[in-house]
Amino acid sequence: MSRSQETIDLLLTRRSVKPMNMAEPGPTPDEVETILRAGARVPDHGKLAPWRFILFRGDARRAFGEVLRERYRAVEPRAGDDLLAIEAGRFLRAPLVVAVVSRIVPSRKAPEWEQRLSAGASCQNMLVAATALGYACAWITEWYAYDEEIARALGLGESERVAGFLYFGSTSLPKDERERPVLAEITTEWKG
Ligand SMILES: Cc1cc2nc3c(=O)[nH]c(=O)nc-3n(C[C@H](O)[C@H](O)[C@H](O)COP(=O)(O)O)c2cc1C
Repeated sequence: MSRSQETIDLLLTRRSVKPMNMAEPGPTPDEVETILRAGARVPDHGKLAPWRFILFRGDARRAFGEVLRERYRAVEPRAGDDLLAIEAGRFLRAPLVVAVVSRIVPSRKAPEWEQRLSAGASCQNMLVAATALGYACAWITEWYAYDEEIARALGLGESERVAGFLYFGSTSLPKDERERPVLAEITTEWKG
């Protein structure tokens, strides 16, 4: 198969894998670098790099789970041990989690909207790169992407928001299909 056909196949068959279905191994350090470089090679009006990446691997995943557990306990005081254990284990579902942080850089050229979109492109590029390397991956947010205290724990600044938590690992589950939009329903020809 030609390389261009492989690329098209990858784009047309890519699937997310639920973090709960992920396991070791995760990407090697070299592969992580490749994935991050793909994430930093996205359309970026004005060359602002309006994104940054926070890596969670090894014990850091457990430590961050404690942050999630304590915050969840504060927000949901009636949560039992079972629910708190789910929070503590969130980042342990995959060998590597990358928080993609969207940040707004003052610019006369690129409005905030475009800078936020660029962060989305960064997430997607990383998923495509990880898929090409043979890894399972997913872009999720869950409640902790939108929580002020978690933002503080992540060290986010005023203009910064979580664009997504990208989970990377391996899976033994076969890829299933998911219904896709009918192109004709989302596509029109502009006729003036
Ligand atoms: C910004 C963003 C946030 C998402 N957050 C979640 C989430 O919290 N939980 C979830 O199950 N899926 C979430 N998704 C959807 C998954 O990433 C994925 O697209 C979906 O499971 C469909 O799989 P597919 O990528 O194979 O089409 C999110 C998608 C985007 C773009």
